[in-house]
Amino acid sequence: AKGKPTRDNIALIGFMATGKSSVGRRLALALNWEFIDTDEEIEKVSGLSVAEMFQRHGETRFRSEENLVLRRLGRMRHYVIATGGGMVVNEENRGLLAERALIISLYAPLDKILERVGDRAQRPLLRGPREKIEALWQARQSVYGQADLIVDTSELDVDGVVREILREL
Ligand code: S3P
Repeated sequence: AKGKPTRDNIALIGFMATGKSSVGRRLALALNWEFIDTDEEIEKVSGLSVAEMFQRHGETRFRSEENLVLRRLGRMRHYVIATGGGMVVNEENRGLLAERALIISLYAPLDKILERVGDRAQRPLLRGPREKIEALWQARQSVYGQADLIVDTSELDVDGVVREILREL
């Protein structure tokens, strides 16, 4: 049954380069909570960077690693979880996160995202023509909209987003 979302943990979702990891790290510091980044967990467990995993084993393998990370989380309290941008595309993953955490979505329009992202080498899905990235951004908006709180990061820096979240908690 869907009740009031738990406030024991916070999960950050949203498109690539919306600031999930940077905001998550700083939010965890501000709350004095633990921080976990699902991409980093996958990298630790596999010994491969995200880009290497895509290259060697393909996106499908990466998606199953993402699911495993969430299943392994178990009981947790006072964690900020930064997810990879594709994590919540999977319905089971959405459920696993929602059971454990208040879901906060970081929004940015595509132009801001392309402006912010520096090194695309580590983000296989940000390579290629703008139309392709735009289609992905567009297709993801409805899942990113399914959140307990949506923060528009367009005009905010990392601290600004953290302040906004703290205000809404
Ligand atoms: C992905 C986002 C990335 C990473 C992978 C795939 C996606 O994480 O998980 O490259 O499908 O949106 P960030 O959102 O932290 O860049």
